[in-house]
Amino acid sequence: MTTAPLLQLEDIKMNFGAIEALKGISFSVGKGEVVALLGDNGAGKSTLVKIISGGLLRSSGRMTFDGEDCSFASPADAKAKGIETVYQDLSLCTNVDVVGNFFMGREMVKKYFGIPVLQEKAMEDVVAKAMANAGTRIPSLRTNVEYLSGGQRQAIELNRFAHWGGKLVLLDEPFAALGVEQTRRGLDMIKRIAAQGIGVIIITHIMTQAFQVADRIVVIRQGIVAGDVAAKKTSPDEVVRMITGETVLSAAS
Ligand SMILES: Nc1ncnc2c1ncn2[C@@H]1O[C@H](COP(=O)(O)OP(=O)(O)O)[C@@H](O)[C@H]1O
Ligand SMILES: [Mg+2]
Repeated sequence: MTTAPLLQLEDIKMNFGAIEALKGISFSVGKGEVVALLGDNGAGKSTLVKIISGGLLRSSGRMTFDGEDCSFASPADAKAKGIETVYQDLSLCTNVDVVGNFFMGREMVKKYFGIPVLQEKAMEDVVAKAMANAGTRIPSLRTNVEYLSGGQRQAIELNRFAHWGGKLVLLDEPFAALGVEQTRRGLDMIKRIAAQGIGVIIITHIMTQAFQVADRIVVIRQGIVAGDVAAKKTSPDEVVRMITGETVLSAAS
């Protein structure tokens, strides 16, 4: 059985003035698939992530998401379709608790004699359940986010994304500021959300992380795809050779 990929990129190009940052990128991401995007500094990874998530408009090429041609005018536009870049904490309100952040803009309200009342207990139950499903433990959901660690904040963002129907999440060096244990939890969390059918693109320069979490590895080198292989069918050494340009492999298995 073949199902259409969640995201399909065809010949994506991006110019910044005279700089050709992307010279024709094509690859796809399936539902529930984790793709690690690797490449040297300046290869074009962040540019590509911004194009997918609405932060930049591509110069040319085609992007299909969930079976539809798409061009996003802004990150909000991409988010409305279910594509989001998750940063460590940039989109959380630090002076609001976990439940408040989870329901930001989507609060559960009931009217009593015409007066709207926040359903605090009901909202807390929803968040507790979502966190438990994802294997995330946060001591108190009533703690303001400012008192939580980077890993906990990331977990809140990913849980919130999955809970509200997110379909494709982009992570650009998500563990750069995290310790070993938090990184391990973050990688577990990525696997869990992928198991729910969410597609994941993760940029990391740490090879072991890529191999721990990814189904497929896509290597970008100087604005082109220098490799697109199943993680099980390659090795860190081979990926390093793709990154440095010693080996060029294309077309996923
Ligand atoms: N806004 C911009 N204006 C001009 N050049 C840019 C801009 N953003 C990225 N570039 C250039 O595009 C290339 C790819 O950058 P980037 O996508 O950040 O690479 P990576 O994330 O793989 O390190 C680099 O040569 C970079 O200098
Ligand atoms: Mg980058």
